[in-house]
Amino acid sequence: MVYKLQVISEIGDNFSEEHPELHNLSFSEHFALVRTESRIELRQLDGDRASLYVDFVGGTLGYRRLHGGGAGQAVVKAVCSRNKTMPQVIDATAGMGRDAFVLASLGCHVLMFERNPVVRVLLADGLSRAYNDSGIGNMLKERLILSPLKSITEMKEDKCCDAVYLDPMFPVRRSSALVKKDMRIFHQIVGLDEDSDELLKHAFRLARSRVAVKRPKSAPFLGGFKTSNCVETKSHRFDLYHP
Ligand SMILES: C[S@@+](CC[C@H](N)C(=O)[O-])C[C@H]1O[C@@H](n2cnc3c(N)ncnc32)[C@H](O)[C@@H]1O
Repeated sequence: MVYKLQVISEIGDNFSEEHPELHNLSFSEHFALVRTESRIELRQLDGDRASLYVDFVGGTLGYRRLHGGGAGQAVVKAVCSRNKTMPQVIDATAGMGRDAFVLASLGCHVLMFERNPVVRVLLADGLSRAYNDSGIGNMLKERLILSPLKSITEMKEDKCCDAVYLDPMFPVRRSSALVKKDMRIFHQIVGLDEDSDELLKHAFRLARSRVAVKRPKSAPFLGGFKTSNCVETKSHRFDLYHP
Protein backbone atom coordinates (compact mmCIF):
# COMPACT_ATOMS: atom_id res chain seq x y z
CA MET A 1 0.00 0.00 0.00
CA VAL A 2 1.21 3.53 -0.79
CA TYR A 3 -0.06 6.62 1.04
CA LYS A 4 0.26 10.21 -0.10
CA LEU A 5 1.79 12.56 2.48
CA GLN A 6 -0.87 14.89 3.88
CA VAL A 7 0.22 18.48 4.41
CA ILE A 8 -2.06 20.18 6.93
CA SER A 9 -2.19 23.51 8.69
CA GLU A 10 -4.03 23.67 12.01
CA ILE A 11 -3.74 27.46 12.01
CA GLY A 12 -5.45 28.10 8.68
CA ASP A 13 -2.43 29.44 6.76
CA ASN A 14 -1.03 28.44 3.35
CA PHE A 15 1.40 25.83 4.65
CA SER A 16 0.83 23.40 1.78
CA GLU A 17 1.08 26.08 -0.95
CA GLU A 18 4.32 27.36 0.61
CA HIS A 19 5.88 23.92 0.07
CA PRO A 20 5.23 22.58 -3.43
CA GLU A 21 8.19 20.21 -2.92
CA LEU A 22 6.00 18.26 -0.46
CA HIS A 23 3.21 17.65 -2.96
CA ASN A 24 2.93 14.14 -4.34
CA LEU A 25 5.32 12.50 -1.87
CA SER A 26 4.19 9.02 -0.85
CA PHE A 27 5.28 6.47 1.71
CA SER A 28 4.44 2.91 2.71
CA GLU A 29 2.79 4.28 5.88
CA HIS A 30 0.25 6.99 6.44
CA PHE A 31 1.89 10.29 7.50
CA ALA A 32 0.82 13.92 7.86
CA LEU A 33 3.11 16.93 8.10
CA VAL A 34 1.24 19.34 10.33
CA ARG A 35 1.79 23.02 11.14
CA THR A 36 0.44 23.56 14.64
CA GLU A 37 0.39 26.78 16.61
CA SER A 38 3.80 26.05 18.07
CA ARG A 39 5.77 23.97 15.51
CA ILE A 40 5.78 21.76 12.44
CA GLU A 41 5.60 18.04 13.17
CA LEU A 42 5.40 14.81 11.24
CA ARG A 43 2.62 12.57 12.53
CA GLN A 44 2.23 8.89 11.92
CA LEU A 45 -1.48 8.40 11.40
CA ASP A 46 -1.55 4.61 11.98
CA GLY A 47 0.49 2.16 14.04
CA ASP A 48 2.51 3.73 16.85
CA ARG A 49 1.01 7.18 16.12
CA ALA A 50 4.38 8.67 16.98
CA SER A 51 5.42 12.17 15.96
CA LEU A 52 8.68 13.77 14.94
CA TYR A 53 9.84 17.38 15.23
CA VAL A 54 13.04 19.30 15.86
CA ASP A 55 13.54 20.91 19.26
CA PHE A 56 16.92 22.54 19.89
CA VAL A 57 15.78 24.42 22.99
CA GLY A 58 14.12 21.83 25.26
CA GLY A 59 13.94 18.04 25.21
CA THR A 60 16.95 15.79 24.81
CA LEU A 61 19.09 18.36 23.02
CA GLY A 62 18.42 21.09 25.56
CA TYR A 63 19.36 18.67 28.34
CA ARG A 64 22.45 17.50 26.45
CA ARG A 65 23.62 21.10 25.97
CA LEU A 66 23.37 21.85 29.68
CA HIS A 67 24.41 18.51 31.18
CA GLY A 68 25.96 16.47 28.32
CA GLY A 69 29.57 15.43 27.97
CA GLY A 70 30.79 18.73 26.43
CA ALA A 71 33.96 18.43 24.36
CA GLY A 72 34.30 14.80 25.47
CA GLN A 73 31.42 13.74 23.22
CA ALA A 74 32.49 11.39 20.43
CA VAL A 75 31.16 13.57 17.61
CA VAL A 76 33.14 16.54 18.92
CA LYS A 77 36.35 14.49 19.26
CA ALA A 78 35.78 13.20 15.73
CA VAL A 79 35.15 16.54 14.03
CA CYS A 80 37.24 19.08 15.96
CA SER A 81 41.02 19.07 16.04
CA ARG A 82 42.50 20.06 19.41
CA ASN A 83 44.52 22.99 18.12
CA LYS A 84 41.76 24.74 16.16
CA THR A 85 39.23 26.92 17.94
CA MET A 86 35.83 27.59 16.38
CA PRO A 87 36.40 25.37 13.30
CA GLN A 88 34.23 25.80 10.24
CA VAL A 89 32.34 22.56 9.71
CA ILE A 90 30.06 21.32 6.98
CA ASP A 91 27.48 18.79 8.13
CA ALA A 92 26.65 17.22 4.76
CA THR A 93 23.91 14.93 6.13
CA ALA A 94 22.18 17.15 8.69
CA GLY A 95 19.02 15.08 9.28
CA MET A 96 17.32 16.35 12.45
CA GLY A 97 20.36 18.53 13.20
CA ARG A 98 21.31 16.85 16.47
CA ASP A 99 25.00 16.35 15.78
CA ALA A 100 25.28 19.77 14.14
CA PHE A 101 23.66 21.36 17.19
CA VAL A 102 26.11 19.65 19.57
CA LEU A 103 29.03 20.90 17.46
CA ALA A 104 27.62 24.44 17.26
CA SER A 105 26.90 24.57 21.01
CA LEU A 106 30.57 23.78 21.62
CA GLY A 107 31.90 26.51 19.36
CA CYS A 108 31.95 25.19 15.77
CA HIS A 109 30.46 27.20 12.91
CA VAL A 110 28.30 24.62 11.18
CA LEU A 111 26.77 24.82 7.71
CA MET A 112 24.11 22.10 7.33
CA PHE A 113 22.92 20.41 4.16
CA GLU A 114 19.78 18.29 3.98
CA ARG A 115 18.15 17.01 0.81
CA ASN A 116 15.05 15.18 2.02
CA PRO A 117 12.13 17.63 1.63
CA VAL A 118 10.21 16.51 4.74
CA VAL A 119 13.29 16.46 6.97
CA ARG A 120 14.34 19.84 5.56
CA VAL A 121 11.02 21.43 6.52
CA LEU A 122 11.25 19.97 10.04
CA LEU A 123 14.85 21.12 10.42
CA ALA A 124 14.18 24.64 9.12
CA ASP A 125 11.23 24.96 11.50
CA GLY A 126 13.24 23.78 14.54
CA LEU A 127 16.01 26.17 13.59
CA SER A 128 13.76 29.20 13.19
CA ARG A 129 12.14 28.54 16.58
CA ALA A 130 15.57 28.19 18.18
CA TYR A 131 16.76 31.44 16.52
CA ASN A 132 13.97 33.20 18.43
CA ASP A 133 14.95 31.75 21.78
CA SER A 134 16.26 34.35 24.21
CA GLY A 135 18.87 31.96 25.62
CA ILE A 136 20.51 30.35 22.58
CA GLY A 137 19.04 32.27 19.62
CA ASN A 138 21.92 34.68 19.01
CA MET A 139 24.56 31.97 19.37
CA LEU A 140 22.73 29.73 16.89
CA LYS A 141 22.15 32.53 14.36
CA GLU A 142 25.94 32.89 14.23
CA ARG A 143 26.94 29.26 14.35
CA LEU A 144 24.23 26.99 12.92
CA ILE A 145 23.00 27.67 9.38
CA LEU A 146 20.93 25.58 6.97
CA SER A 147 22.32 25.94 3.46
CA PRO A 148 19.85 26.86 0.71
CA LEU A 149 21.60 24.16 -1.36
CA LYS A 150 20.32 20.68 -0.68
CA SER A 151 23.61 18.85 -1.06
CA ILE A 152 27.36 19.47 -0.95
CA THR A 153 27.49 17.90 -4.42
CA GLU A 154 26.15 21.26 -5.69
CA MET A 155 29.02 23.25 -4.10
CA LYS A 156 31.55 24.69 -6.55
CA GLU A 157 34.27 25.89 -4.11
CA ASP A 158 37.07 23.49 -3.09
CA LYS A 159 38.74 23.45 0.36
CA CYS A 160 36.16 25.83 1.83
CA CYS A 161 35.86 24.49 5.41
CA ASP A 162 38.03 22.88 8.08
CA ALA A 163 36.04 19.66 8.43
CA VAL A 164 33.20 17.81 6.73
CA TYR A 165 30.99 15.50 8.80
CA LEU A 166 28.99 12.66 7.21
CA ASP A 167 26.37 10.51 8.92
CA PRO A 168 24.53 8.75 6.10
CA MET A 169 21.59 6.43 6.73
CA PHE A 170 22.35 2.81 7.40
CA PRO A 171 19.79 -0.04 7.61
CA VAL A 172 18.16 -0.23 11.08
CA ARG A 173 17.50 -3.43 12.96
CA ARG A 174 13.72 -3.07 12.59
CA SER A 175 12.97 -5.76 15.13
CA SER A 176 15.11 -4.20 17.83
CA ALA A 177 13.27 -2.67 20.75
CA LEU A 178 16.25 -0.33 21.03
CA VAL A 179 15.22 1.50 17.86
CA LYS A 180 13.00 4.28 19.15
CA LYS A 181 9.63 5.05 17.55
CA ASP A 182 10.77 8.42 16.23
CA MET A 183 13.83 6.83 14.61
CA ARG A 184 11.60 4.27 12.88
CA ILE A 185 9.54 7.09 11.40
CA PHE A 186 12.68 8.89 10.33
CA HIS A 187 13.90 5.80 8.48
CA GLN A 188 10.52 5.42 6.75
CA ILE A 189 10.71 8.98 5.48
CA VAL A 190 14.35 9.02 4.40
CA GLY A 191 15.07 5.44 3.29
CA LEU A 192 18.67 4.48 2.63
CA ASP A 193 21.39 6.80 1.41
CA GLU A 194 22.68 4.46 -1.26
CA ASP A 195 24.80 7.16 -2.92
CA SER A 196 26.90 8.10 0.11
CA ASP A 197 30.18 6.78 -1.41
CA GLU A 198 29.88 9.64 -3.88
CA LEU A 199 29.28 12.11 -1.03
CA LEU A 200 32.60 11.08 0.56
CA LYS A 201 34.49 12.10 -2.59
CA HIS A 202 32.92 15.57 -2.40
CA ALA A 203 33.77 15.74 1.32
CA PHE A 204 37.45 15.11 0.46
CA ARG A 205 37.24 17.93 -2.08
CA LEU A 206 35.73 20.44 0.36
CA ALA A 207 37.57 19.78 3.65
CA ARG A 208 40.89 21.45 4.39
CA SER A 209 41.92 19.22 7.28
CA ARG A 210 39.53 16.39 8.10
CA VAL A 211 36.52 14.32 7.13
CA ALA A 212 34.66 12.38 9.82
CA VAL A 213 32.21 9.60 8.89
CA LYS A 214 29.83 8.08 11.45
CA ARG A 215 29.19 4.36 10.90
CA PRO A 216 27.58 1.58 12.92
CA LYS A 217 30.43 -0.33 14.57
CA SER A 218 30.21 -3.38 12.31
CA ALA A 219 29.65 -1.48 9.03
CA PRO A 220 32.24 -1.55 6.26
CA PHE A 221 34.22 1.62 5.52
CA LEU A 222 32.28 4.11 3.43
CA GLY A 223 33.26 3.73 -0.23
CA GLY A 224 35.85 1.12 0.81
CA PHE A 225 38.18 3.95 2.01
CA LYS A 226 40.05 2.30 4.88
CA THR A 227 41.43 4.20 7.85
CA SER A 228 42.85 3.08 11.16
CA ASN A 229 42.12 6.47 12.67
CA CYS A 230 38.76 6.43 14.43
CA VAL A 231 36.82 7.49 17.51
CA GLU A 232 34.74 4.63 18.92
CA THR A 233 31.60 4.50 21.03
CA LYS A 234 29.62 1.47 22.26
CA SER A 235 27.64 1.16 19.04
CA HIS A 236 29.36 3.45 16.51
CA ARG A 237 32.64 4.33 14.90
CA PHE A 238 33.67 7.74 13.57
CA ASP A 239 36.16 7.07 10.76
CA LEU A 240 38.60 9.95 10.32
CA TYR A 241 40.37 10.97 7.10
CA HIS A 242 42.84 13.75 6.44
CA PRO A 243 42.33 14.63 2.78
C1 LIG B 1 21.35 9.50 9.63
S1 LIG B 1 20.67 11.02 9.10
C2 LIG B 1 21.71 12.19 9.89
C3 LIG B 1 21.37 12.42 11.32
C4 LIG B 1 22.08 13.62 11.89
N1 LIG B 1 23.50 13.38 12.03
C5 LIG B 1 21.50 14.05 13.21
O1 LIG B 1 22.28 14.20 14.17
O2 LIG B 1 20.28 14.28 13.30
C6 LIG B 1 21.19 11.21 7.44
C7 LIG B 1 20.55 12.39 6.71
O3 LIG B 1 21.38 12.76 5.62
C8 LIG B 1 20.58 13.16 4.54
N2 LIG B 1 21.40 12.98 3.32
C9 LIG B 1 21.91 11.84 2.83
N3 LIG B 1 22.64 12.06 1.72
C10 LIG B 1 22.57 13.38 1.50
C11 LIG B 1 23.12 14.24 0.49
N4 LIG B 1 23.84 13.75 -0.52
N5 LIG B 1 22.88 15.56 0.58
C12 LIG B 1 22.13 16.06 1.61
N6 LIG B 1 21.57 15.30 2.58
C13 LIG B 1 21.80 13.98 2.53
C14 LIG B 1 19.38 12.21 4.63
O4 LIG B 1 18.26 12.76 3.95
C15 LIG B 1 19.18 12.11 6.13
O5 LIG B 1 18.28 13.10 6.59
